[in-house]
Amino acid sequence: MSTPFQHTPAGPVIFGAGVAATVGDKTLLKKHERVLVMTDAVVRRAGLIDGVLASLGERATIVDDAAVPDGDCQHVEALAARAKDAGITAIVAVGGGSVIDSAKGVAAVLATGKPLHELEGVARVRTRTMPLVAIPTTAGTGSEATQFAVIKDRGVTDGVPTPIKRILVDTNLIPTLAVLDPTLLVGLPATVSCATAVDVVTHAIEALGSRMRNPIGSAMATEAVRLMLRDGALARALRTPGDLDARADCLMASHLAGQAVNTSMLGACHALAHVVGAVAGIPHGVANGLFLVDVMRINGAKVGDIYGRLASAIGVVGASDDVSALIGAVDAFVHDTAGIPRRLRDVAPGLTEEALPGLARAAALDPDLPTNPVRLDEAALLSILQARW
Ligand SMILES: [Fe+2]
Repeated sequence: MSTPFQHTPAGPVIFGAGVAATVGDKTLLKKHERVLVMTDAVVRRAGLIDGVLASLGERATIVDDAAVPDGDCQHVEALAARAKDAGITAIVAVGGGSVIDSAKGVAAVLATGKPLHELEGVARVRTRTMPLVAIPTTAGTGSEATQFAVIKDRGVTDGVPTPIKRILVDTNLIPTLAVLDPTLLVGLPATVSCATAVDVVTHAIEALGSRMRNPIGSAMATEAVRLMLRDGALARALRTPGDLDARADCLMASHLAGQAVNTSMLGACHALAHVVGAVAGIPHGVANGLFLVDVMRINGAKVGDIYGRLASAIGVVGASDDVSALIGAVDAFVHDTAGIPRRLRDVAPGLTEEALPGLARAAALDPDLPTNPVRLDEAALLSILQARW
């Protein structure tokens, strides 16, 4: 490995069953008298913030459960204004990627005084944000380990909805502390466990093959794949939803894959998943599952040695060769274990085949495409979409 790289580490991690309920006592939060707790209505109804609130006591100055899937810029900016008025000095986010990304948005708006559209892009926050404690309740995005926030702007121009996902990339967005508590995942519906686990494996595989790959990210990504594919973390969690070891393995795989992406970035599968997800409204992990195997087959021509090394590292041995064995194992994980359908038309009934060229055009502009190991143009992306249709 002689290619220069810069590794951006995530923040400290606290792991353990029940640890979320002690967060208010941690040194980081102890001195903060006015804390904003962010979540969504589903997480709150499930009682997953009860322990956090009990440990913070009266210091939980604002409890906001209005985060929505994909986030909402208007919500984030309004909440930042409220937090400023209330003298908030720290944020605790309890939820999936949308909640944690929204919390990153609130922290960024508070630190800069700027609206999100002015913070979109790479290194636009540039200001130290207030302490942010991220407590994931799903094992998918790994947002608690990353410098990324994706927040949907549901703006209206001249009476016409003009939704757009605003992508913020800035090391100041990396949460100050990640709290990984497997008990919070016990009640996850199977469909959510499956889709998010596929996202985890996609993060790891794309980070391993990325043009920005480096040995630190690759080590984390390899362990994430091992937990999911060889140790069967998802299968065990599906079989016994209350199995805390299985949930912990899913959570750890998600966190490790998040750290891997933080330093190595992604590739073509995410580029395709972003556009299909935005147009057809299908879950992000399902969209990734549709394309992961096809993208691996294409990328295998360039990074076959990396796939082969991964296969032997995690103990996947094939009758013919290790690359085919790995792709076969990923295929079985995505479509058999996680049950992701194989056809785009089966998961996106509102979509027509005529829309595919437009999707390929959009995917060619996606910020995750340039780090794919094989250069894919619009025509190549269209071929993948048509093959999966
Ligand atoms: Fe993802």
